Amino acid sequence: MLKIKGENMSKSSDINIQIALDDITHKFTPERFSISRLPLKVGRLDSHRFGTALPSCLDMLIYVPGGEISLPEVYKYDPAIMDVINQAVAHEDQLMPSWRDTHYIYITVDQRMITAGRTHRNGGWHFDGMQGIRYPEKLEVCHQYVVSDNNPTEFSNVVVDATQLDEAKDNWFVELGKQVPDDTELFVPETYDIMMMTAYQLHRSPVAKPEHEGQRTFIRMDFTKKKFDRIGNTINPTLPAPFEFYPRPLPFEISPEAKQSDWKGASQFKS
Ligand SMILES: [Fe+2]
Repeated sequence: MLKIKGENMSKSSDINIQIALDDITHKFTPERFSISRLPLKVGRLDSHRFGTALPSCLDMLIYVPGGEISLPEVYKYDPAIMDVINQAVAHEDQLMPSWRDTHYIYITVDQRMITAGRTHRNGGWHFDGMQGIRYPEKLEVCHQYVVSDNNPTEFSNVVVDATQLDEAKDNWFVELGKQVPDDTELFVPETYDIMMMTAYQLHRSPVAKPEHEGQRTFIRMDFTKKKFDRIGNTINPTLPAPFEFYPRPLPFEISPEAKQSDWKGASQFKS
């Protein structure tokens, strides 16, 4: 498996920036999976390192359109988390300043010990931001900022065809993952690089090697028009959600590996 490490990903080309902008300013459409793409490197953590006893949270609302970012103290006083948030927001302001009136932000913090031979999070190829049958009227696509301090996320620039897939019947992650060759090039950022991707970006959590054993911190910020209202998402006690939460079974299992990304080994944030 050929891996292209961070050096080659150090500069986001104008074309990748334009692709990302076109992605996020248009409604979700399967055709755009057929554009070769890579995430944008928007910054990195130079001086700050994540605290070592961070509780984990899942898709916790931290921003409501027109409001202000609001975080529980345990995250607000972590300089590395605030650094990620500030850099992501600065990039977003530059790319699509109108986001402040239209988008929510949700944050996922996942910190735990990882063991060789396993993935920390979703191991199979997938993308974040499926709209599916819940959104017959498509929204502009979700986009995310991700960073990790150990064994970063792997990305693929392979062109895939999603135009034949059925939202009601097909597991899009499995079907698109099958189209990525086993010996595909992997694009891997440096640890602490802050990467922006859109809902069309295939990626996966890497399998840990012995040298990665130890703590891994993964942060994801999701900028989206969606209401993440699934019971099980972490509640932010400092920011009441302007919507109700409902039981929402995941539309399908992402992959067998996804079972490894439950909360085992993480301490969960409780409000
Ligand atoms: Fe993901």
